[in-house]
Amino acid sequence: MNIITCIAVVFFSHILWHGNCQNSTDHSISDKRFQADIVSIFVINSELPVSLEIIRPALELATTQINEKYSNIKFNIVFRDGASSCKANVAGAYAAEEYFLRRVTAFVGPACTLALDPVGRMASYWNIPIYTAGGIDTTVSDKSIFTTLTRLSFSLEGAANFILEILKEFNWHHIAIIVDETNLQKILMKRSLVDIFKDINDYEIFYSLKEFSQKSFIDANFTKLLTEASKEARVFVFVAGWEIIRSLLLEAYNLGMGDGEYTFFTFQLIENKEKYGEISWYKPGDYRNKNARKMYEALMVVTLRVPATLQYKQFSAKVLENSRLKYNSNADETMVDPILGAFYDCVLIYGHILNKTLVEGGDPLDGRTLAKKLWNSTFYGGMAGDIFINANGDREADYTLSDLDPETGIMRPVATYYGIRRRYEKIPGTYIHWPGGLDGPPPDIPYCGFTGDALHCLPQKSFPVLGSVGITVFGLCVFGSIAGALLYK
Ligand SMILES: *[C@@H]1O[C@H](CO)[C@@H](O)[C@H](O)[C@H]1NC(C)=O
Ligand SMILES: *[C@@H]1O[C@H](CO)[C@@H](O)[C@H](O)[C@H]1NC(C)=O
Ligand SMILES: *[C@@H]1O[C@H](CO)[C@@H](O)[C@H](O)[C@H]1NC(C)=O
Ligand SMILES: *[C@@H]1O[C@H](CO)[C@@H](O)[C@H](O)[C@H]1NC(C)=O
Repeated sequence: MNIITCIAVVFFSHILWHGNCQNSTDHSISDKRFQADIVSIFVINSELPVSLEIIRPALELATTQINEKYSNIKFNIVFRDGASSCKANVAGAYAAEEYFLRRVTAFVGPACTLALDPVGRMASYWNIPIYTAGGIDTTVSDKSIFTTLTRLSFSLEGAANFILEILKEFNWHHIAIIVDETNLQKILMKRSLVDIFKDINDYEIFYSLKEFSQKSFIDANFTKLLTEASKEARVFVFVAGWEIIRSLLLEAYNLGMGDGEYTFFTFQLIENKEKYGEISWYKPGDYRNKNARKMYEALMVVTLRVPATLQYKQFSAKVLENSRLKYNSNADETMVDPILGAFYDCVLIYGHILNKTLVEGGDPLDGRTLAKKLWNSTFYGGMAGDIFINANGDREADYTLSDLDPETGIMRPVATYYGIRRRYEKIPGTYIHWPGGLDGPPPDIPYCGFTGDALHCLPQKSFPVLGSVGITVFGLCVFGSIAGALLYK
């Protein structure tokens, strides 16, 4: 049904409008500048917290900015949105309508992977550049299919790679991944971790997966989950929301896992601080805050590195103001997240590469050429800092690892993973506080093994014969020497 709808739209649109669509932009007659027509497509998202009420004013601000910057180009932007779900059909139809009805020189969006998939394929066929700050899933990573797609989002792959670099840094090989399967984004994160661990061949990783997916996490048997995980690893990665992680850690406390033998990791990539709260052990009025704090000493968090610049603050304030004034929305700070800045950068980067192509005498309508110029290069001056687009056309975001400062009880950054270098880099002057009085990371496998029954830890039932003989001979010798010494004194 979806595919049929889509094909029908494409087919009929083609017959009806293709003849005159390329000439329908009458402004090109009076205006000598190159006309860049951006079509921005959005559907309701399920994997990223994208609110169109603020994305739209952000993209408008970006368009105004590039119009001021590049006097040789006139940028126009139209918005197609309203589909109430992230499915494959609607976004593709929007794209086809715009392509055949009007003129499109670039697409921006959609963010959700399912909707991006058909739009990305058609854009590739039409050879039109497409930019998104979404599409975080690996299903749109293959750029031999999505030849004109540039992704300015962070990638879950990058975050997963950071975890791998952390394991290498501390010489850990065993890891348990504990996943909340009720959340799409968590499932995607799990998939990225597994993909990375499967592919690696210069380092040994043994991972185990522990999934749970009940509607109410209260009835989850975390005791069982953690106990089973402890049979295979001492390093746990929680792929879940904050409430659940706190509960898991408290359960781990009950199981005696706060003694320094265990290390826990988790992610906070796009969760908005205002909405989801700081990464905190503290829960008002909870009698277990003390236990939680102790456990958080063993927790480390991977976050997306967002420069907390004044420029970004002013930008989000302006976006929110425009959203309220122009679109009569109730937008507030809780909606601002790194995705917003990345979408703004989508428009900026298109302006940059279009100007470059025009000035250098290239074909501004050739999406593949535009992509080739942009990929494997750094764009300076994005809203979220300098942006490195890798050779696959994806932004390599930067990530931060934070650890709890036991004195203040607040998370502080201890290491960085720069997408451009892909290494674990310790932040100078900081150190990780290892729980249990250790001054370094706990070993990959505890001395007595994961289940405490390593051979060298088993109680010796009886002395072996040879041992007994040895002890007897030794005893006799000692006795003899003492006796001898006494006799000849
Ligand atoms: C569109 O404009 C071009 C150049 O002005 C012209 O050659 C072409 O015939 C026009 N096409 C239509 C369908 O009007
Ligand atoms: C959870 O699992 C543990 C260990 O398997 C078991 O002893 C306990 O009864 C379970 N609790 C619930 C509520 O099912
Ligand atoms: C447009 O591109 C050219 C060539 O890369 C560059 O020299 C020029 O500075 C760009 N214009 C602006 C306003 O950035
Ligand atoms: C990316 O660019 C660097 C230098 O700018 C070059 O050495 C490298 O070969 C390029 N990689 C690819 C895959 O094109």
